[in-house]
Amino acid sequence: MIRNHIIYNAYLEYAFDLLRAEGSRIWTSDGREFIDFTSGWNTTNLGWNHPEVAEAMAAKLKKGTYAPMWAADESQTTYAADLTGALPAGLTAVGRATGGTEANEMAIKTARAFTGRRKILGFQATYHGQSAGTLAIGTPEPMIAGVVPPNPDSIQIPYPETYRTEKSHKDLLKDLARNLEEALSSRQVAAVVTEAGIVTGWGSTSVAPPGYLPLIREVTREFGTLMILDEVGTGFSRCGALFGMQLEGVTPDLVTFAKGITNGGAALGAMVTRADIAEATFARTILLATFGWTPIACAAARKTLEIHRRDKVWEKARKDGAYIMDRLKRDLADHPRVGDIRGLGMELGIDFVADRKTKEPVPEAAEQFVKEAFSRGLHLAYDHQSNVQIMPPLTIDRPTLDEGLDRLVKAARTIV
Ligand SMILES: Cc1ncc(COP(=O)(O)O)c(C=O)c1O
Repeated sequence: MIRNHIIYNAYLEYAFDLLRAEGSRIWTSDGREFIDFTSGWNTTNLGWNHPEVAEAMAAKLKKGTYAPMWAADESQTTYAADLTGALPAGLTAVGRATGGTEANEMAIKTARAFTGRRKILGFQATYHGQSAGTLAIGTPEPMIAGVVPPNPDSIQIPYPETYRTEKSHKDLLKDLARNLEEALSSRQVAAVVTEAGIVTGWGSTSVAPPGYLPLIREVTREFGTLMILDEVGTGFSRCGALFGMQLEGVTPDLVTFAKGITNGGAALGAMVTRADIAEATFARTILLATFGWTPIACAAARKTLEIHRRDKVWEKARKDGAYIMDRLKRDLADHPRVGDIRGLGMELGIDFVADRKTKEPVPEAAEQFVKEAFSRGLHLAYDHQSNVQIMPPLTIDRPTLDEGLDRLVKAARTIV
């Protein structure tokens, strides 16, 4: 679709002209006001147009706006120190990117250069970016056929889906271990790419069994494969910890960030890795982005990280996430089309089904629900399969959250 010269190719039902946004509310140019349960898909985690972030950006704007790739502005070195200082020891070297796709591309190139291997293993039905390389990680082949060349270096294995299965968590992890061992034992796989135990990017909010990340860590280590953790969606308090990797105490070899990293203030992505990996690879990986880490974006990122740590935003995410989950499980307990309510922290989902026994997904119900919610002044996102995502700004106040949940439950009641 083309609207006002802009090409939209997904989520057409969300396309609106944004007039203003503040905290957990957005206003459209046609005069409507919405409670937002999307955070721009895990981007404005601290609320839309956070005043402290805006102030930090404005102050930097007055000082200078650009530093070239072969140099570093003080805002860049300071932020690199802040970010690596917030991560587990060892993750000390950053690649300066403009967003999540680019950060993941940097991680893939680095992993290939370090291991001398080409193959990349990812999980089916996951999203890690819009480039040919990152689409190959988790997008089903038919969706990208004819647009992205077939990628013989890409291996996709099933994600340990806990809802549409009869298997126990233990058996799911056994299957995962077997699949990983089969793929990695050839010693041709440079890296396994995954999110931190929940699928945010694809929109399914599918939660892996506990033990998922430690298992991937163990098997990758055994076969000399690197572990790339994509924290573009899970990072910055969304899942109840500052970073998703803390949920299971796992340190990856490479981690990528974007989205919530600047709270939507400016484009910025980061790849962080160990010094030994960066030292061995930097001469060959071409980690160059003209607009990677502009000083204003760094000012936004620095303030964003400061607020997350100062206010321990992840604690509120954990508490409010549990509150939302309880409320939905109670109010939608008897809803015949609501099959599952799941998530981590404030990354939650409602899965719409034909009936609770077969768990057959009903995309039309999810779409209808999002439209009904929209007509009641609640903005939600869904995955075009059957899951509707609930990702409010983590700073949302309780009355607004309650009002949003009331609208959500009313909208759900119209789905029969
Ligand atoms: C998990 C995940 N990884 C990577 C990306 C790509 O990030 P960007 O859109 O900044 O390139 C996304 C975007 O939705 C994402 O959700």
